[in-house]
Amino acid sequence: MRLSTIILGVVGLVSGVEDDLAFMRSDPAAHQLVAYKMSIKEERKTLTISNGAPVDYRDTNSLNDNLILNPYFLDSIMHMTQERIPERIVHTKGAGAFGYFEVTHDIQKYCKAKLFEYIGKKTPLVVRFSTSIQDRGSSDLWREARGYAVKFYTEDGNWDMVGFNTPVYFYKDPQYFVGFVHSQKKNQVTAVRDINAIFDFLTLRPETLHEFLWIFSDIGIPDGYRRMSGFSIHTYELVNEHGESHFARFHFITDQGIKNIPTELALQISAQDADYAIRDLYNAIANGSFPSWTMYIEVMSKEEVEKADFDPFDVTLLWPKGHYPLLPVGKLILNRNPSNYFADVEKVAMNPGHLVPGIAGPPDKMFEGRVLAYKDAQNYRLGVNHNKIPVNCLCMPVLIIEMDCRL
Ligand code: HEM
Repeated sequence: MRLSTIILGVVGLVSGVEDDLAFMRSDPAAHQLVAYKMSIKEERKTLTISNGAPVDYRDTNSLNDNLILNPYFLDSIMHMTQERIPERIVHTKGAGAFGYFEVTHDIQKYCKAKLFEYIGKKTPLVVRFSTSIQDRGSSDLWREARGYAVKFYTEDGNWDMVGFNTPVYFYKDPQYFVGFVHSQKKNQVTAVRDINAIFDFLTLRPETLHEFLWIFSDIGIPDGYRRMSGFSIHTYELVNEHGESHFARFHFITDQGIKNIPTELALQISAQDADYAIRDLYNAIANGSFPSWTMYIEVMSKEEVEKADFDPFDVTLLWPKGHYPLLPVGKLILNRNPSNYFADVEKVAMNPGHLVPGIAGPPDKMFEGRVLAYKDAQNYRLGVNHNKIPVNCLCMPVLIIEMDCRL
C-alpha cells in the first residue's frame, strides 16, 4: 500500500470527514502536498540550505541586510533560476514510474541476459511513457504515437528498451528523422502546428502509411498510459550461453486491457486536464492499483531469417501473424511513483544503445542512427556525465530499496 494511501486513511480515522477523504483518494495527485506534509518526520522539519545548515532567518527586508551575504537567498534563487534543462526534442512530455520485471517463463535457450536468468527473478526498472510530438505543457491526449521506454537495472548493466505503443515505425532510414520531426512539430516560421507539413510527409513517403494507419485508428488516443501496450518494433539479436543467435521482437501487452478515447472526448478532457495521462498513472500507483504488462518475445531462428521472403528487420513491417512463436517471458509491474519528477523523469536518459550481454541489439540502420542520436541528445540535454545521475545509474536499485525502507 502506498504511503499516501495510509496517510489519507489515518487522516480519515482522526477527522472522520469521510466525504473529503473519498475525494482525496480519488485524486491523490491533487493532494500530494497534504500527503507530503503528513509524511515529514520531526527531524526533517528544520528549513536548511543545500549544504544542510539550518536557515537562521528567511526574510530579506531589513534595511541593513546585504542580499549577497544572505546564504538562504543566494542558495534558493540560484537553484530556481537554473532549475530548467533543455526539453527533449521529441517525446518531450511524459510520465515515469518505478517497478520491477519478474520472469515467469524460461527463455535461456534464446538469451543469456541476467534479467532472464531464472523463473521468479525480479529486476528493478524505471519506465517513461510519453507523447511523441507535443511540447511541454501541451495535452496528453493528442492523436499520435506514444513512447514506451523501459530501463532495466540488470546486474550486467542497464538495458534500455525504447519503443512505442504501436508495433511499427514510420520509415526505415534514420536520415528522415530530421525532416520528419520538423514536419510534425510546430512550423518553424509560424510556431503553430502545420497540418500541410504533416500530410506532405505522409504522402511523399508512402512507407509511413502503415504507421499513420495505426495512429488514425482507435489506438491513436490511448485512455492513459496504463491501457496501452508497448513494442520494441526493432528485431533484436539475442545470444544464448553457447553463443547461438536468435532474433526477436519484444511485446509488452497491457494487463489492464486496451482502452482508447474518441477524438471529441479527448478534446473536451484536454481543455480541462492537459495532464490526464500523467495524473492517471500517478493516481493508480498512489492508490495501490499497480499496473502491469506481460512481456512476450516473437522469435525467429537464423535459418528462418535467411529464408524469410520479407525483411524481418524492417521497422515499417509486422511479421506475418502466427508464423513465428509468441512466447510469454514475464511481468512488468509498476509500484512506485517518482519521488521527484525532475530528478526521476526529466533526467532519465533512455538510450537504445544501452545493451547488456545476451542482447546484442537490432542489426539495422535505423538502430545505428538512434544510438548516435540519443547519446548526442543526452550529452546536450543532461551533460556528458548523464549516466552518473542517480536515475541512470546502477546505484538506483539500492536507492529504491533504501527509499522503501524509509517508508
Ligand atoms: C523505432 C523507431 C523509434 C522509436 C520507437 C523511438 C522512440 C522514442 C522514445 C520512446 C523516446 C523517448 C525516450 C524517453 O522517454 O526519454 C525517444 C526520444 C528520442 N528519439 Fe526516438 N524513436 C525512434 C526512432 C528515432 C530515430 C530514427 C531517431 C534519430 C535518428 C530518434 C531520436 C530520438 C531522440 C534524439 C530522442 C530524445 C532523447 C532524449 O533527449 O533523451 N528516434 N524516441
